[in-house]
Parts: sequence; C-alpha cells; structure tokens
Amino acid sequence: MARVVIWGGTGLTGGELLRLLAGHDGLEVVAVTSRRRAGQALWTVHPHLRPDYPGISFMSPDEARSVEADLAFLALPHGTAYPVAAFCLDRGQKVVDLSADLRLGDEKLRHHWYGDGGAPQDLVDRAVYGLPELHRDELIGADLASGVGCNATALNLALFPLAQAGLLDEVRAECRVGSSEGGATPGEGSHHPFRSRALRVIEPFRHRHMAEALQELRLDPERLTMTTTAVELVRGIQMIAHVRLAQKAREADLWKLYRRVYGEEPFVHLAPARPAHLRFPDPRLVMGSNRALVGFGLHDDGCRLLVVSAIDNLLKGAAGSALQSANLMMGFEEGQGLHLRPCYPA
Ligand SMILES: NC(=O)c1ccc[n+]([C@@H]2O[C@H](COP(=O)([O-])OP(=O)(O)OC[C@H]3O[C@@H](n4cnc5c(N)ncnc54)[C@H](OP(=O)(O)O)[C@@H]3O)[C@@H](O)[C@H]2O)c1
Repeated sequence: MARVVIWGGTGLTGGELLRLLAGHDGLEVVAVTSRRRAGQALWTVHPHLRPDYPGISFMSPDEARSVEADLAFLALPHGTAYPVAAFCLDRGQKVVDLSADLRLGDEKLRHHWYGDGGAPQDLVDRAVYGLPELHRDELIGADLASGVGCNATALNLALFPLAQAGLLDEVRAECRVGSSEGGATPGEGSHHPFRSRALRVIEPFRHRHMAEALQELRLDPERLTMTTTAVELVRGIQMIAHVRLAQKAREADLWKLYRRVYGEEPFVHLAPARPAHLRFPDPRLVMGSNRALVGFGLHDDGCRLLVVSAIDNLLKGAAGSALQSANLMMGFEEGQGLHLRPCYPA
C-alpha cells in the first residue's frame, strides 16, 4: 500500500478524500492534519466515517512533517498550500494540491486574479492542471498536480469539445452553486440562516474560477462572462452557458463532436436528447459521484447553443478529480476508489 497524508483533513474536501480513500485498494491514509482538532479522533469531525477509520486521530501539521509518505493531498486554503507542496516534494512525495495556488500557469494571469505573492513560478511550472479529461498524458507519472476550481470544471468540461474545435465565439455562463463550495467554516454570507433559500448572485464578472476557463479553453477574456448564483443546494453545480458559435452548426454534428471527445471518458457522460426533462443536466443526477453530465440544445438559427453541465462540486469539482489525478500519477487504474454511483433521489 502507498502511504497518504491529507493536509487539512477537517474540511469538506478533506472529508471527501477520506471517504474515497476508504474504498481504495492501493492507498492507505497514514496521517490527517488539523491545527484545531489535533489529538481528537477523526470521526468526531467526520462521524459518517467512524467504521472506516476507527483508530485514526488528527495530527498537528508540525507532527505530520516527519511522517513517511508516498503521496500528499493538500486540502488547505489558498495561499497556505504551496509551502506545504514544496516541503512534501522535497521529501520525495507526490503531491496533489486542491487549492488554487498552482492552478494558473501564467504569472500575470495569477497575479491579476489572486494578487501578488503566492507560489513561486518554478513550483507552478512543475504542476500539471489536475483535470484528467484535459491533461491525462501529462498526469501519468507526474510528481505534482494542481487541483481544479469546481465552477471552472463545470464550465471546462461543458465547453472543451467546442473550444477544441474552434467553435466558441462568445460565452455567457452562469453557475448555480450549493453551499458546500464555501467550505466547512461558516462566514457572514454562508451561515445557514442567511445562506439557506438564498438566490444570491456572487462575483458577476470577477469570479476567480473564470481564470481557469480562460486558461484551459484558451479564450480571450472579452469572449467570456461568468456569474455564479448561490442556490438552495448543499452539494452540486449546474452550469448554464449561452454560447454563440463561431460558425453555423447542425445539431447532429455537435452530438458527433461531443461523442468523439467524451465517448471513452469514464466520468463524463452526455445527457440524452429526449425526453426534454432529462436533456439539460440536473446536479441531482450526479450527487455523491465523480460524474459530470453534459447536455445541449441548438437554436433553429444554428448559431445559438445552450450548454448545460452538472457536477458534484466536492467530487468531480475537487476531491474526485484530485484522486483521479493521483491514480494516474501513482500508476493505479484511473477510476480506483471513484466508481461511486450517484444517490437518486436524494
Ligand atoms: N469546497 C469546494 O467545493 C471546493 C472545490 C474545489 C476546490 N476547493 C479548494 O480546496 C481547498 C479546501 O477546501 P474545503 O472546502 O475543504 O475547505 P474547508 O472546509 O474550509 O477546510 C480547510 C481545511 O484547512 C485547514 N486550515 C484552515 N486554515 C488553515 C491554515 N491557515 N493553515 C493550515 N491549515 C488550515 C482546516 O483545518 P484546521 O483549521 O483544523 O487546521 C481545514 O481542515 C481550498 O483551497 C478550496 O479552494 C474547494
């Protein structure tokens, strides 16, 4: 068994990594860090996992530095992960960083969206963007992978076939997001009495995940608008993109294009054209799984396309893609620990 340390194990993505790793045949969790809960049993924070980790307690980050491991997952806040990534790499460990520290390769783009400071360029240059559907070959055997933004993943998977075919002229996207995007610690806007039943638009033009869509889809900023709306969900994202195509298309050709790109993908599925209520993906159909669902409909004019995707933000948008990347980096079957079926209805 390869030994795994999870840094930031009291959080939501840390909890999902633990849930996934409990079903992995080749990876064993040997340490889970927390500053606030060091010394306490893991199940006091993740009670649903008590039978899976009866004997493990959280460890302070200082203690975890001397643990022998082969792989580290960093489920830490932005800005705190990259020094840990550098430390783990120096100790010969492979690293998957779920934070945003290493996602944007271009220094200018990174500073524009996240401000000055942050990870040094040589560390960022070592990282592969951790979305296997777009970077599988580079992830195989890699030492360092970034995580993915959850909204960015909903957008990137939905639009990648069109971007690759040079068909994107203009995109206006809206992500409808659940509260777990905000992590485990409630803030002014995310505390339940204020967040529940909210329909709140967040960051209409400057959501940071937009930067990952610009990078991965190779779009000019003036061609993409993205808004995010808080809706009544705990998990899940539904991304709705109004796309103007660069040239007229026939719907049958677009189906062929999407099937060609995603036909062999283990975790990206196309929604059926009929019946109408299943054509545009609902996050409930992927909840608790590493699946992404993509559907679309073409306007009669052949130019306006509505593309909709759904993912579970904590899985395909975070811990699931992270484990999928780690499997490729470590030489395991890509889907190890990830073949969870969605829970429906939930
Ligand atoms: N939630 C999502 O949907 C999602 C999706 C994609 C990516 N991500 C990214 O994944 C990372 C983790 O997200 P999350 O939702 O799991 O966050 P979270 O629930 O807030 O958990 C953060 C974890 O980091 C630890 N931590 C907090 N501040 C720290 C610090 N200054 N130094 C060291 N450890 C610290 C916390 O434990 P202690 O305070 O006990 O140390 C906790 O275990 C973030 O970078 C986030 O952007 C999240």
